[in-house]
This record gives sequence, structure tokens and C-alpha cells, in this order.
Amino acid sequence: MYTKQEKTNGSMNNRRVKVGRNDPCPCGSGLKYKKCCLRKKAPGDENLKDQYLRRYNIRLKEKKDIEGIRRAGRLAIATLDLVEAALRPGMTTEDINTIVHDFTVENGAVPAPLNYRGFPKSVCVSVNEVICHGIPGERLLNDGDIVNVDVTPILDGYYADTNKTFFVGTPGADARKIVDVAGNCLKLGMSMVRPGNTIGDIGWAIQNYAEGRKCSVVREFIGHGVGLDFHEAPQVPHYGRKGEGIVLVPNMVFTIEPMVNLGKSSLRVLKDNWTAVTKDSSLSAQFEQTILVTEDGNESLTPYDL
Ligand code: MF3
Ligand code: CO
Ligand code: CO
Repeated sequence: MYTKQEKTNGSMNNRRVKVGRNDPCPCGSGLKYKKCCLRKKAPGDENLKDQYLRRYNIRLKEKKDIEGIRRAGRLAIATLDLVEAALRPGMTTEDINTIVHDFTVENGAVPAPLNYRGFPKSVCVSVNEVICHGIPGERLLNDGDIVNVDVTPILDGYYADTNKTFFVGTPGADARKIVDVAGNCLKLGMSMVRPGNTIGDIGWAIQNYAEGRKCSVVREFIGHGVGLDFHEAPQVPHYGRKGEGIVLVPNMVFTIEPMVNLGKSSLRVLKDNWTAVTKDSSLSAQFEQTILVTEDGNESLTPYDL
């Protein structure tokens, strides 16, 4: 009996014993299985991190990077909350810049937009028909306006990028509709983020919903990898086809930031070379979060309710 049992356990069945993700790798490298052969097709194959860098220029994030981006994200959300609490008809977009700039610096961070490719302010503030990249200035916020505030603090070298569209005073029906559609677009886009899905799945979900509500999706500006820099690979369009594009894998970090217009999707850029407005002057709204692909789905590193 003893001999039989030893023989069975010692030779035959052992091969079928499942190696745990955190167990030492059976190849003898001394690494955990999940850090070694679990992510390789065969010993000697490139790991996912090197593969995504070489093939797509995508930098998969390390644990410490993710913690850093999450901290920057908390500051970004606190900044949006502060702006929301201060919003009132009669204030200027410059006033929002002052709030964002001072709060960012007080918290030991740097506002990424300031001097980015010549952008002159610390935050993008985009009112009504402005799609994105509005430059803070003397424009007054009026009752019934919608205003998007897009913040990107750099904290300890890590970037988190997030925006929200707020109502100023009491919104009309058009304002409520476009803000509702844009918020749902981000929510649906995020719901597609999990390992094995593709970038095209995200764009498809957004476009399908927005157009179903008789709105249009801006093509010229897209989501992007973020974290170690402001704009990294991959590009994340808010339109596309199911199953197309790069396959999502754990530790990718990118934004989803659909800009949705009540009228047509065409835009023009003002003489300041930044401010993008709808060609037909229709309202445009946007929501943006920085999203981490996890082992079984996603986590927003700039979380807020949608
Ligand atoms: N925050 C914007 C984005 O979501 C980029 C703004 S670039 C700036 O990608 F220079 F206008 F700030
Ligand atoms: Co962005
Ligand atoms: Co942004």
C-alpha cells in the first residue's frame, strides 16, 4: 500500500498537478510562474511586455507605475471636484485655470498642459460648441452653458488625464441630452475594456451608441496611452469595428475620452491653433478617464460615477 501510493504520487500524477500562478516556475528560473513561463508560449519566447513595446510601442505598466498613476488620478479627481464646487454663471474660464493651477501646484504636482506643445494655460476649458483644447481666458460662463474641464496633473513623474462636462446653472434640453449621451459613451467604452477584447471593440461600442442617439463622434481627437508621458501608444479612436485593432492585455493604461456632437462631426480649429469647435456650432460634450486593463477587466485610475 505504502509503495503503491508513493509510486503514484511520485511519478504519474505529479505532471497533472496544477502549478499555481504564485508558485515557483517549473522551468527553474527562480521566478514566480506568473512572471515567467505562464506568460511565454515556450521557454525563450519574448514576454508580453517586450512584445508590446517592440510591436506597438506600448509600455505595459509595472506595479509601482500603476500606484503612481493612481495617486495622480486621485489628485486629478479632487481638482475636478474643486472646480465643480466653484462653478457659477459670471465666472471666466480664466478663473477655472487659476483654481486648477494653484491646487495642482499646492499638491506638489505640475499641470501637464502648461507649455505642452505651446499650450499657454494649465487646463483645457471647452464651452458649448468648443469640442476640446479651449484656452482659458476672458470668456464668461453663462447660465445654461456646458463646460468641459480637462485636467492632467503630473505627480512624481506620473500622468493622469481626466475630464468632465459640467452644467453651469440650469441646463436646457439640448445640453442635458448631449451630456447624457457623452457620459454614456464613456461608460459603454469602459465596459468593453478587458483582456482579449480589442481597441476596435471600444470604438465600436461608443460610435454605435452615439449614432443610435442621433449624435456624432469626433474623429480628429482620440484616446491615448498615458502614465509615463502625456500621450503614449496606443491610439484609442472612439469609432471603429468590433474585433479590430490591438488586443488588450493586463497593465495597459490608456484614456477613453469620446467627444460627441449634437450635430455633425466636422470641426474647425480657431486661429489660436488650439480651440476646436463644431463646424455647425452645435453643442459638444466629452468625458475622459484613465483606464487600467486588469487581469479580469478594468480599473479606472481616475474614477467617478457615470
Ligand atoms: N488633456 C488632453 C487630452 O485628453 C490633451 C490636452 S493637450 C493641451 O489628451 F495641450 F491642450 F493641454
Ligand atoms: Co487624454
Ligand atoms: Co485630457
